[in-house]
Amino acid sequence: MCGIVGYVGPKLATPLLIEGLKRLEYRGYDSAGVAIMNGSGVETVKESGKITRLESLLSATPVVGTTGIAHTRWATHGQPNQVNAHPHVSQDGTIAVVHNGIIENSMVLKQMLEGRGYTFQSDTDTEVLAHLTQEFFEGNLEEAVIQALRMVEGTYGIAVISATDSHKIVAARKGSPLLVGLGDQEYFVASDVSAILAHTRQVVYLDDGDLAVLDRDGYRIIDLDATELQKKVSRVDWDLDQIERGGFPHFMLKEIFEQPDTIENTMRGRLLPDDGTSRLGGLNLTDDELLSFDNIVITACGTSWHSALIGENLIEELTRVPVEVEYASEFRYRNPIVNERTLCIVISQSGETADTLAAMREAKRRGARTLGIVNVVGSTIARESDGGIYLHAGPEIGVASTKAFTSQVTALLLFTLKLGRLRDMSILRGREIIDAMKAIPGQVRDILSRADEIEALAEEFKRASNFLYLGRGYNFPAALEGALKLKEISYIHAEGYPAAEMKHGPIALIDEMMPVVFIAPHDSVFDKITSNVQEVKARKGRVIAITSRDEPALKGKIDYEFRIPETLDLLGSILASVPLQLLAYYIAVKRGANVDQPRNLAKSVTVE
Ligand code: G6P
Repeated sequence: MCGIVGYVGPKLATPLLIEGLKRLEYRGYDSAGVAIMNGSGVETVKESGKITRLESLLSATPVVGTTGIAHTRWATHGQPNQVNAHPHVSQDGTIAVVHNGIIENSMVLKQMLEGRGYTFQSDTDTEVLAHLTQEFFEGNLEEAVIQALRMVEGTYGIAVISATDSHKIVAARKGSPLLVGLGDQEYFVASDVSAILAHTRQVVYLDDGDLAVLDRDGYRIIDLDATELQKKVSRVDWDLDQIERGGFPHFMLKEIFEQPDTIENTMRGRLLPDDGTSRLGGLNLTDDELLSFDNIVITACGTSWHSALIGENLIEELTRVPVEVEYASEFRYRNPIVNERTLCIVISQSGETADTLAAMREAKRRGARTLGIVNVVGSTIARESDGGIYLHAGPEIGVASTKAFTSQVTALLLFTLKLGRLRDMSILRGREIIDAMKAIPGQVRDILSRADEIEALAEEFKRASNFLYLGRGYNFPAALEGALKLKEISYIHAEGYPAAEMKHGPIALIDEMMPVVFIAPHDSVFDKITSNVQEVKARKGRVIAITSRDEPALKGKIDYEFRIPETLDLLGSILASVPLQLLAYYIAVKRGANVDQPRNLAKSVTVE
């Protein structure tokens, strides 16, 4: 979603801000802009489209100064055009604001400001913040921002500069992530650590209600009553090369190929083979507490919701604790059965998805214990959950989630092992699962070594306009995820279905134009899926089968085949999802789509 970066220090701000924006571009990118203190006032340059367009504008007419703020926008209010791009400037041109989030009472505030003579240039909710700050400004920027924010309902991560109280950035957070980066006599503000990682690893994460005041001499964190707060300085352990493409044409491909390592990293130090269980230091739950829950609710969005479905199967099969999976956006608005005897597992790569965060807060409000399965260290869900499991998959930049998914499933397996062994899962079963888990990174490597087979398949199907993905058991969520990957980046309509359920509707769509991907490894439901393959073939569908061995039962019934190694049923979805990620990737590339920045999508959806 939208990204913020700001800089105050001795260096020229514009190149630093542009570099930061480029690193944030993966989050949302329909327009971008900067505002710089140029010595005589606030100078703003903004442009619709990609950051390279803004960069060209700035190289044609450089803006020189050492304090500035910048923004990449993902439109919520108003068209993604130049006027609506951030920063937004106050009526008198002295104050510039960048904003992530939504000001819910912007219409009321706008009317009030218009009554006081302010005129509005844009259709955005953000512009009210610029004018409001001017309205309250009496020489001290943080005081004016505090007054303005007191009038605002909604969510915000903001950075503000003023020509009068210059060489200062005021930043504030409520509901939209923001952090302060501490350099050597220079300070940054950013919505995502990747924007500033090239310059510092020391950060202070802001919490809701926090305000940061940065100038060349230091930083202060205060609350909305201007009371000074003491905040912990955290060290970010991501490396710069992890947020760069490292020779791959796209982040998505790099991240697909990282999976042998990222899955390994999720497991590292956590498997206890002798006892057939796992060690999860971050759960913050005693064994007795873990045993005390009557039910588990897992809530998430997008790809993370698909891993939640796999988690449901895993936990119910191995621990017999009832599990419900809920879309985070739905969970909040119904009346779910959640109380003190519920464990709520919240899955989120970014740890910032607005609906997931709100669902977690709702579960907490109802008394549930919350566990976050999160990739981004220090993210809001990681900080607000009662405990959790970090994925340790490293930064995921490609908008289409890949390595986070396989690590989420791995983390859910680790959790299931732990709970299962505390309940009545046998040590032998635990050891069998651990042996199979240990083999997964090598098996993924084997699949990746045959990526060219998938590329050839992509050539064959790149012109398709619809796709069906079918699987059973653990591979039904894998089918959903395969279909989601394809639609996200290639814009081909695709649906995932439980293979047998296909008969109740989607079968009507099948003809010689319809590619149908069957996830059909030799697992316990293989026999059942062969009849579904026949049903498709009988209607002339084009069958692509993900299999794991020579299957006489499929002879003559499939058109294309890709082999994956064999594993336990409950690990199958990890292996099956890798060729499906590759298929989506290669089809999208062959169609000329922008794989890392698919249209309309954002990496982290921080609005409802
Ligand atoms: C967006 C992304 C998806 C992601 C979903 C949930 O829609 O484009 O790739 O799966 O958000 O994100 P989260 O960070 O909570 O896992």
